[in-house]
Amino acid sequence: MCGIVGVTGSDNAVKILLDGLQKLEYRGYDSAGIYVNDQSGEDYLVKEKGRIADLKREIGPDVHGSTGIGHTRWATHGVVSVDNAHPQVSKDNRFYLVHNGVIDNFQELKSDYLSDVPFTSQTDTEVVVQLIDKLAVEENLNAHDAFVKALTLLKGSSYGFLLMDREDPDTLYVAKNKSPLLVGVGDGFNVVCSDALAMLRETHDFLELMDGEVVTIKPDSIKIEDKDGNLVERDTFHVDMNADETDKGTYPFYMLKEIDEQPNVMRKLAQVYLSETGEPVISDKLLSSMKQADRIYIVGAGTSYHAGLVGKRLFENLTQTPTEVHISSEFAYEQPILSKKPFFIFLSQSGETADSREVLVNVNAAGYESLTITNVQNSTLSREATYTLLLHAGPEIAVASTKAYTAQIAIEAILAKALGESDNQIVAQRFDIRQQLGLVATGIQAIVDAKSEIEQLAKDDFLNTSNAFYIGRSLDWSVSLEAALKLKEISYVQAEGFASGELKHGTIALIEEGTPVIGIITQAKTAGLTRSNLQETMARGAKIITIVSENLAKNGDNIVLPEVDELMTPLLSVVPTQLLAYYTSLHKGLDVDKPRNLAKSVTVE
Ligand code: G6P
Repeated sequence: MCGIVGVTGSDNAVKILLDGLQKLEYRGYDSAGIYVNDQSGEDYLVKEKGRIADLKREIGPDVHGSTGIGHTRWATHGVVSVDNAHPQVSKDNRFYLVHNGVIDNFQELKSDYLSDVPFTSQTDTEVVVQLIDKLAVEENLNAHDAFVKALTLLKGSSYGFLLMDREDPDTLYVAKNKSPLLVGVGDGFNVVCSDALAMLRETHDFLELMDGEVVTIKPDSIKIEDKDGNLVERDTFHVDMNADETDKGTYPFYMLKEIDEQPNVMRKLAQVYLSETGEPVISDKLLSSMKQADRIYIVGAGTSYHAGLVGKRLFENLTQTPTEVHISSEFAYEQPILSKKPFFIFLSQSGETADSREVLVNVNAAGYESLTITNVQNSTLSREATYTLLLHAGPEIAVASTKAYTAQIAIEAILAKALGESDNQIVAQRFDIRQQLGLVATGIQAIVDAKSEIEQLAKDDFLNTSNAFYIGRSLDWSVSLEAALKLKEISYVQAEGFASGELKHGTIALIEEGTPVIGIITQAKTAGLTRSNLQETMARGAKIITIVSENLAKNGDNIVLPEVDELMTPLLSVVPTQLLAYYTSLHKGLDVDKPRNLAKSVTVE
């Protein structure tokens, strides 16, 4: 959601900004823009609706500079338009600002300080840049001081800001609050970005920024000040990732690449989190914190919430610890009554989801311990939780999450095994996690190798339907919810995941002639019941498709999954549903990786 890039000290500024913005496309956006200054009086502001490719077309050969800022906007305040795109500029064309986040009191600031200023956009960002300008001009402040003073006037806000002053054109001013922003350190140049991925071609060394800090960046210096104006020294951290990992190679879309990567992610997790003898390697501190808990609370949004639903079953089965799963945005404002000794697990691919962070802030304030399971090292949720386990899934660029979901479940399984075993739970002792992860890896491989069959299903039954239903019981219901979300997100088919026992209590009324109903059947106890429920929908005209574990399969089943432990079946049953969503979107001619209205990293509540 909104991406920020900046650079100072490079003659290639335009290219660096555009390449960086392209790498941030995955975050979701609907317009984009850059401002560059060549230090000798020439500067350029270019903005456009749509994609980075559209912005590139607007950038003429004369546009050049050595310092600049760029932005991808995901509209919050104001429609998608060139005027509302960033950078926003002050009325005297002196200050240029890009912004990620929301300023809660922008209306008040506008009426209290800026009633005489003509506005050209509907954005809260323009209010901030006009305010900086007003403070600079009327109170005779330099850019730094005007910026700092403006920040003190913002209320209850989440933001990442990157500011330029035409009168001091080689300097970038940066501030952030609850929003991700990094400074990348180069040799004779420096960069700024919302995500290290955007600048890996320029540097691998980054500085983390803390909420409330103000950073002044020139080509050969970076000055960090805390909120009281004291200078802060900070070491860089090294991002050990190859820029090529963020390329899609020969794949038409990142999503397909990421689906195909899942067997390797499973193997990687076994390598990272299991010893040579196959025992989980989880820190004693984390295990002892979790052992003291009388209840586990899993918190997440979207796909991560769905991975939490599977986690509940894993923790309850292998550790006998009662486990609740909550949607972050609900938990934050309607907190359930907590047990005496709660332990919190935050699931978040990006580690930046504002809804989840809101919960973590409360959890920390109450003094409870927590674990973040995330794909992004040094992300906000990782830094602020007591413990972190990384997903090691490699960058996930497609908005629709696939390999992060399966990695989250695999880590929950490893952790549940470790916790259960440390508590002498027999079920955990018998659960051979190494063998299971191996079976899952080869099982996913077999499914993705047969992807052409799923492509055919998508073509036959999903291109012309306006709705579709996934049904299942227990773990199969949890996967049904995720399967339906994938289909909705990228193919815009109205899809729902239903507990199959609930159909007859209302939802079966939705079935019409030809409605696709996909039954997920991997749990022996409920397999027969779900099959009966499928028959009931078929009797009312539904087109039935089955995804079934090998041991429960019957003649005529559509997709048969290789066998794994019942607890691990979500790792396999979800894969055909990812592919079904992918091919439906692909053959509808949609932008699979960047579905409309959605963002990968949702940094506003
Ligand atoms: C957005 C994305 C979803 C994702 C959710 C949670 O809505 O579009 O794909 O599941 O955020 O993100 P997180 O990074 O916390 O897992």
